Amino acid sequence: MRQDSLIPISVIIPTYREAGSLPDLLDRLANLREGERDLEVIVVDDDSDDGTEELIASRGKDWERLIVRRGERGLSSAVLRGIESATKEMLVVMDADGSHPPESIPDMVQAVQDGADFSLGSRYVSGGSTEDGWGVLRWVNSKIATLMARPFTTVRDPMSGFFCLRASTVQRGESLDPIGYKIGLELIVKCRCERVAEVPIHFSTRREGESKLTLRVQWEYLLHVLNLCRFKYPRLASFIPFALVGLSGIGVYTGLLAVLDLLVGDAFSKSVRIVIAIALSMTWNFFWDRRLAFWDATGGIVRQYLGFVAVCTVPVLVNFFVTLYFSDRLVLPTAGLIGSVIGSAFGLVFNWCGNRWLVFRRS
Ligand code: GDD
Ligand code: MN
Repeated sequence: MRQDSLIPISVIIPTYREAGSLPDLLDRLANLREGERDLEVIVVDDDSDDGTEELIASRGKDWERLIVRRGERGLSSAVLRGIESATKEMLVVMDADGSHPPESIPDMVQAVQDGADFSLGSRYVSGGSTEDGWGVLRWVNSKIATLMARPFTTVRDPMSGFFCLRASTVQRGESLDPIGYKIGLELIVKCRCERVAEVPIHFSTRREGESKLTLRVQWEYLLHVLNLCRFKYPRLASFIPFALVGLSGIGVYTGLLAVLDLLVGDAFSKSVRIVIAIALSMTWNFFWDRRLAFWDATGGIVRQYLGFVAVCTVPVLVNFFVTLYFSDRLVLPTAGLIGSVIGSAFGLVFNWCGNRWLVFRRS
């Protein structure tokens, strides 16, 4: 190997209660320094209080640095913290528990030097493997999570927490969001990594400590996928919730007509009841659309509400008259169902465009 190809590396290791696993990993990383490789290790520990601090101190190696975060927790944010304080050009992120073989780091670094934007240690390319002992549940879990990442990358193992990229690549990441576990996926998508190389690894089962993959982490993954959708497919991620909220609005409108029928059927005329139901269901739609479909809009809520109502005029009028027309032959809720379905179909495209371009404008 050519001497000048030994690019300096920062290895970032997020840890939470990994004092038992660290010594072995740090020793194996130290081996990579032979051959004059400039390599620093940054352990980002979330106040584990399990001897991690004492361990790093007692080793007394100037290339092993420890950052202890107090009052903050999270794998992804710990990784970003490590990346911030890294001083070398090439960044490698890996688990502390021995699942990821440090011996693969040179190949991963080489892949990036050869032109990849991002390289990762992969279980799912030929030559890669997973140690036995993964329960069916964890395996299914991992498969589903991998499938959910498909819209964002065709990488075989996008769930990998063992990856490598240049510091300059991280720089081009827009609005990095350290939610959940999958910071590698986040970086691939947000840093617009086109060329991702997969280096086969054998994924070992941890010998010490325990996994931190909780139900909460899985819930956070769903939110993460939603955020990635919004980033990569902003129109679709707005239009689909908009359509679903519209659908829910039909239910709300029809239900309200039924309730009003029961409560004030004698006191108010049909037209008044229709108007009340329209006003309330429109407000329902407004609040949910604002949260789910136009999450990125700027501007005050009052202005948005008035704009929303204005854009709704046409479908609302369609709904009103169709409901009124059918209310002579059918019970009011059924007439309302027909009216709101027709009105909503009418308004689906028209309203979304009107709201997106006129009311909920992006910054
Ligand atoms: N600082 C910090 N804070 N580190 C954390 C935290 C945290 O809140 N939670 C977990 N870690 C560290 C662990 O100490 C370990 O070094 C690493 O992050 C991975 O945690 P594990 O709990 O061992 O994760 P896992 O085995 O379930 O998941 C692994 O497999 C996935 C692929 O299926 C990890 O490698 C993931 O990164 C990987 O995506
Ligand atoms: Mn693990």
